[in-house]
Amino acid sequence: MTGELSYAKGAAVIGGGSGGLGAAVAVRLAGAGVPVVVTYHSNADRARELCDQVSAGGGDCTAVRCDLTDPDAVDELLADAGRRHGRVAQVVYAAGPSFGFHFIGQIPNEEWHRVVHTDVHGAFHLTQSAVRTFKEQGDGGNLVALITSATGRVAPADILSAGPKAAIETLVKGVARECGRFGIRANCVGPGWIDSGLGASVWQTEVTEAQRRKILNEMIPLRRLGAAEDVAWAVAFLCSEQAAFITGQTLAVDGGAQV
Ligand SMILES: NC(=O)c1ccc[n+]([C@@H]2O[C@H](COP(=O)([O-])OP(=O)(O)OC[C@H]3O[C@@H](n4cnc5c(N)ncnc54)[C@H](OP(=O)(O)O)[C@@H]3O)[C@@H](O)[C@H]2O)c1
Repeated sequence: MTGELSYAKGAAVIGGGSGGLGAAVAVRLAGAGVPVVVTYHSNADRARELCDQVSAGGGDCTAVRCDLTDPDAVDELLADAGRRHGRVAQVVYAAGPSFGFHFIGQIPNEEWHRVVHTDVHGAFHLTQSAVRTFKEQGDGGNLVALITSATGRVAPADILSAGPKAAIETLVKGVARECGRFGIRANCVGPGWIDSGLGASVWQTEVTEAQRRKILNEMIPLRRLGAAEDVAWAVAFLCSEQAAFITGQTLAVDGGAQV
C-alpha cells in the first residue's frame, strides 16, 4: 500500500492535448506511468513540445493530428492507439473551441453553430468511439470529459460555454447509466476560472481590472484562479483504480465558485 493512484493497463487518449488543460492531464498521467496519446488540431508545435517534455521525464507520449468533429478520424485515432499500446484504458475529452462572452440575444448564429459543432459533436464522436472501443476490448474502460463548473448556474454572457457543456455532461451521464454493466465508468470534471489555456486568454483579453478584483474577492471563495494542475489531479483521480466505484459524477474544480 503506497497510497499512490494506480491505473488499469493501457493507453490514455487525450482529445485536446495541445491545449492548456489537456497538456497538464497528459503530463500528470504520463508521470504515473500511463502511455498517453494526445491530439492536436492546429497546434502541432505545442503537441510536439508536450511530447518532448513528457519523454524527457521518462514518459511515453505520442501526438496525433485529429479533427474531433470527423467521426472517421476519431475512430482511427482510437484504433491506432489500441494497436500501438495493446488497449485503450482511458479516454479524456479536453478539447473545445475558443469563444468570447456574449449575451444570449447578441450571439451571432454562425458563432453558436461553430461552438456547438466543435464542442458537442467533437465530444460526442470521441465518447461514442470510446464506448465502442471499450466494449470491443471487453474489459471496461474509463471516460472523463472536461466541461465547466457553470452548467448548473449560468453566469450572464457565458452560455457559449455552459450550453454545449451541459449537453456533454448529459451525454456522459448517459454513458454511465448505459455502460456501467460493461465495466465502463464515465465522469466529468468542471473547471472554473483556470489560469491556463482558454481561461488564461479570456482573463487577459476580455476581463477588466475591476472585474478581476470582483471575481477573485467575491465570486471565488478560495480567492485565486485555478492552475491547470488542479484540474489534472481531478482527472487523474477519476481515471484511477481508486475511483473504481465512481461514475456519472461531475467534480467541480473551481475554488468553490458554484457553492
Ligand atoms: N481553461 C479554463 O479556464 C476552462 C474553464 C472551463 C472549461 N474549460 C474547458 O476545458 C477544455 C480545455 O480547455 P483549455 O483551456 O485547455 O482550452 P485550449 O487551451 O483552448 O485548448 C483547446 C484544445 O482543443 C483543441 N481543438 C479545438 N478545436 C478542435 C477540433 N475541431 N478538433 C480537435 N481538437 C480541437 C485545440 O487544438 P489546437 O490548439 O491544436 O488547435 C486544443 O488542444 C475546453 O473544453 C474548455 O472549454 C476550460
